[in-house]
Amino acid sequence: MMQTLSIDNNERLQLSPLTIPSRLLLGPGPSNAHPTVLEAMNTPPVGHLDPAFLELMDEIQSLLRYVWQTKNQWTIAISGTGSAAMEAAIANTIEPTDVVLIGVAGYFGNRLVEMASRYDADVRTITKPWGQVFSLDELRTALQTHRPAILALVHAETSTGARQPLEGVGELCREFGCLLLIDTVTSLGGVPLLLDEWGVDVAYSCSQKGLGCPPGASPLTLGPRAIEKLHRRQTKVANWYLDMTLLSKYWGEERTYHHTAPINLYYALREALRLIAEEGIENSWQRHQKNVEYLWERLENFGLSLHVDKQFRLPTLTTVRIPQGVDGKAVARQLLNEHNIEVGGGLGELAGQVWRVGLMGFNSRKESVDRLLEALQQVLHEQR
Ligand SMILES: Cc1ncc(COP(=O)(O)O)c(C=O)c1O
Repeated sequence: MMQTLSIDNNERLQLSPLTIPSRLLLGPGPSNAHPTVLEAMNTPPVGHLDPAFLELMDEIQSLLRYVWQTKNQWTIAISGTGSAAMEAAIANTIEPTDVVLIGVAGYFGNRLVEMASRYDADVRTITKPWGQVFSLDELRTALQTHRPAILALVHAETSTGARQPLEGVGELCREFGCLLLIDTVTSLGGVPLLLDEWGVDVAYSCSQKGLGCPPGASPLTLGPRAIEKLHRRQTKVANWYLDMTLLSKYWGEERTYHHTAPINLYYALREALRLIAEEGIENSWQRHQKNVEYLWERLENFGLSLHVDKQFRLPTLTTVRIPQGVDGKAVARQLLNEHNIEVGGGLGELAGQVWRVGLMGFNSRKESVDRLLEALQQVLHEQR
């Protein structure tokens, strides 16, 4: 007699159909996906080598080049979240003992340090207080001191809400003969990004923020200088799953099987990118800016203060200082439980000090701001 294990019949596990509350996601990500993106995701899967799917991959590549403003041939979606694309960027560009200079002014700068050190890079850092950004002069001095093979910067530091200006940094990197690698996880789609004009060699992002798609298919792009470095490697890329020399054979003309693509996520990504192209990328940037300025105005009129200097604030993510005497976690919990609105808490150095409010992709709308402010006023009134 075969003995099978039965389902653990505790109170938490019930075999009822899935019920998930409907939330307005105004935290650091994910943000809500556009309804047609969710519809696209529902399309029945085809095979990962089906001609229809291969055509869709080509379209994703073209659309990604458009939203990033790059002509880079090697522009693809990594199967995984933003951290997978981050790891792909690192694994493919770093060779053991390479000097890698990383700008750390928040949590995700530190994550780059952690990842790069696992690929045996000689990691050096420049740091700034969380919420500030690096000036060109500071970057020049650091490049002179460290002479790195790669400079890595976070364009949109999600832990602080600061936007690192990139104008002129690519030229600087060419002057010092290093690659420029940037994290655009919280900027792609919502913050002006001109990869080619700015001389960015490597960039990565995610799907669940400014692109307004569920998480799991994450953009990565490698420019000619990065590909040249990849071809000159003495050692294999130390991560098989994310090795671009293999992945480019699936995304390129050869169409060689590498791994099974998350088909339905690519449907969703294609639709999310199509919506941005329909709107126009510049219009999307302007929409994000307009709505975030409305958010800032309403928050400040309500007596709340913002953590980042106005000129460096992100249009996609705002850090709001938690007023003295207010229990920030309790406010966020109440917003979620009673108003179905998610906002984020502070990370690392800013834990307990700020709320993080995201207006990204489909959620960058006046109605999102109005709904949040109405709920926040009510919750803070009750707390006080
Ligand atoms: C700037 C930045 N980089 C990397 C990541 C990692 O992305 P994911 O959580 O999708 O793996 C995040 C996530 O929020 C991020 O904000």
